[in-house]
Amino acid sequence: MTAHEPTVQSLTKEVLATLEGCKDERFRFLMSELIQHLHDYVRKVDLKPEEWMAALQFLTATGQTCDDKRQEFILLSDTLGVSMMVVALAQARASASERAATPATEATVQGPYYWEGAPDRDLGEDIAVGVPGEPAFYAGRVTDTEGRPIANAVLDVWSGDGEGVYDMQIEGPAQMRARGRLRTDAQGRYWFWSIRPSYYPIPMDGPVGSMIERMGRDCNRPGHIHMIVSAEGHVPVTTHLFVADSPYLQTDVVFGVRDSLIVPFEQRPAGTADDGREMPRPYWTAHYDFRLAPSAG
Ligand SMILES: [Fe+2]
Repeated sequence: MTAHEPTVQSLTKEVLATLEGCKDERFRFLMSELIQHLHDYVRKVDLKPEEWMAALQFLTATGQTCDDKRQEFILLSDTLGVSMMVVALAQARASASERAATPATEATVQGPYYWEGAPDRDLGEDIAVGVPGEPAFYAGRVTDTEGRPIANAVLDVWSGDGEGVYDMQIEGPAQMRARGRLRTDAQGRYWFWSIRPSYYPIPMDGPVGSMIERMGRDCNRPGHIHMIVSAEGHVPVTTHLFVADSPYLQTDVVFGVRDSLIVPFEQRPAGTADDGREMPRPYWTAHYDFRLAPSAG
């Protein structure tokens, strides 16, 4: 056999050897492991040429489905559990170096609907005026892991509407809704109004939807509101609050649910709300305190 007659056994070595000149150590490690695992996979499943071509076409279609409002690759990563694995590893790494009284708020997936640059909102504002759904009052505090309040912490909040539809999914010119950035007061408190989020199916009209269907899986996420909570000198956390009695809490299609993030939504009759707002119809309340770990250094 000459060097130009690679076989099923020798090919992997040959490809790995091409990385010897790579100067970026971490990148060389990532690529070597990727090549090794991909080759192992191809050998293990005895991949057929038509299956390989179907996989390439699937990835091509996934890329072609992305645009400025739709992120099919994040959806693919989410539904294969890779996003949640990366989140869990990051959190495990952070908590290993932490010696706090209470752990920081657990993180979960960012998902494909984050939109940078949500408008600044005042505490107590309704971030979902005119958005379909039942009103909900959100309140709580942001503290450090020792329980000390953090003033001026930023909550970057977003959710779908009461029917589970995100602004980015609506046809026509892009317009933000049910999004906002709020800052905690001197006592670390936050409060705002939005809607009670509904469960929703992930987009099923693209290649990821076809994959989910073919796998025989359910396509729904339980009701949740997203937020990135950040403050100077602290590790930001990208997380959700899940509605306690929502369907699909046990079968979230992106594996994002964590028990510590499930929050009871209590129904209140019409009348004066905790922040003094007069509510002409019944509404929901949800309370949650966020804890941020100190950043290293
Ligand atoms: Fe979501």
